[in-house]
Amino acid sequence: MKLAVVGATGLVGTEILEVLAEHNFPYSELLLVASERSVGKQIEYKGKKYPVIGLADAVAAKPEIAIFSAGGDTSLEWAPKFAEAGTYVIDNSSAWRMDPNKKLVVPEINAKEISKNDKIIANPNCSTIQMVLALEPLRQRYGIKRIVVSTYQSVTGTGKAAVDQMMAERAGETPTMVYPHKIDMNVLPHIDVFQSNGYTKEEMKMINETKKIFSDDTINVTATTVRIPTIGGHSEAVNVEFKVDFDLAEVRSLLESAPGVIVQDDPANFIYPMPITAHKKDDVFVGRLRRDESQPNTLNMWIVADNLRKGAATNAVQIAEYLLENKLV
Ligand SMILES: NC(=O)c1ccc[n+]([C@@H]2O[C@H](COP(=O)([O-])OP(=O)(O)OC[C@H]3O[C@@H](n4cnc5c(N)ncnc54)[C@H](OP(=O)(O)O)[C@@H]3O)[C@@H](O)[C@H]2O)c1
Repeated sequence: MKLAVVGATGLVGTEILEVLAEHNFPYSELLLVASERSVGKQIEYKGKKYPVIGLADAVAAKPEIAIFSAGGDTSLEWAPKFAEAGTYVIDNSSAWRMDPNKKLVVPEINAKEISKNDKIIANPNCSTIQMVLALEPLRQRYGIKRIVVSTYQSVTGTGKAAVDQMMAERAGETPTMVYPHKIDMNVLPHIDVFQSNGYTKEEMKMINETKKIFSDDTINVTATTVRIPTIGGHSEAVNVEFKVDFDLAEVRSLLESAPGVIVQDDPANFIYPMPITAHKKDDVFVGRLRRDESQPNTLNMWIVADNLRKGAATNAVQIAEYLLENKLV
């Protein structure tokens, strides 16, 4: 089993390597791939030195699985070349997510949709993954009419250069600007590019990807996505209107038994999910569970996950594990 990690020098790529090690993911050969800028550099991993190789060499090696996190343009150009060589590509970029012929997978929800012919499999947007995973058991039980989500997203979601901007500002140095404004001590109601309808691309990803993953175009979703100066994870205030009424104790127990979800909800003891405690964890944390008293059948919840973990690396590695467990590779 040859495994390639494309974008191995980046934030998500580095996290993928950590998750692969923690999960004891089996491979016989590991190919670490990045841009031409990095070719020839060495990456030390599990006590061994690996040379960084370029994309053409990686395709020629015909790996069974390639996990891509090297931006949309790289995926658009190179994922089909890997697929033609027989490789399963698990892609973290937004390049293929809304392609009607590609599966958009959160394993706990819809891994069963993957078939042998799906050579390019899309990993959803980080903010979408954590939201749909926490909502899935409630959707199954009560049905969802409408979701209103506001996010508080970590700078790690933008990549290495964004963390560098925040840290330089914090140290009083002149930063190389990734965002159009200062990010430290600030809040930007702006993630990805603005669209003609006034929403950002990140907001539209949350709306469209949620419908696709739930295979339900009738769910109404509206989103405001916001960048805050934190690392560790994304937080989301979610207001969800169900089709029928719910019982709060049952909501709690459904969430407690949901795979990949951990309930942290004890306000009296100041226990609720936070990025600082979700950091480096594979799970999605849920708390602040309370009835929206302004309208029927509606719940407020607070959802936090490490965007580099379940929002990217962990979800991708779980898809690879599914391919192996189901003998698709
Ligand atoms: N950060 C998140 O929370 C998150 C979550 C979900 C999905 N994603 C997606 O994952 C991807 C990577 O994000 P990141 O945060 O890890 O960014 P990053 O820290 O900036 O890393 C980018 C990686 O892509 C590689 N790369 C760039 N251009 C390339 C090219 N032309 N050919 C081959 N490799 C190239 C870089 O290699 P060099 O070091 O050689 O430049 C580096 O390894 C993006 O598509 C992003 O949208 C990110």
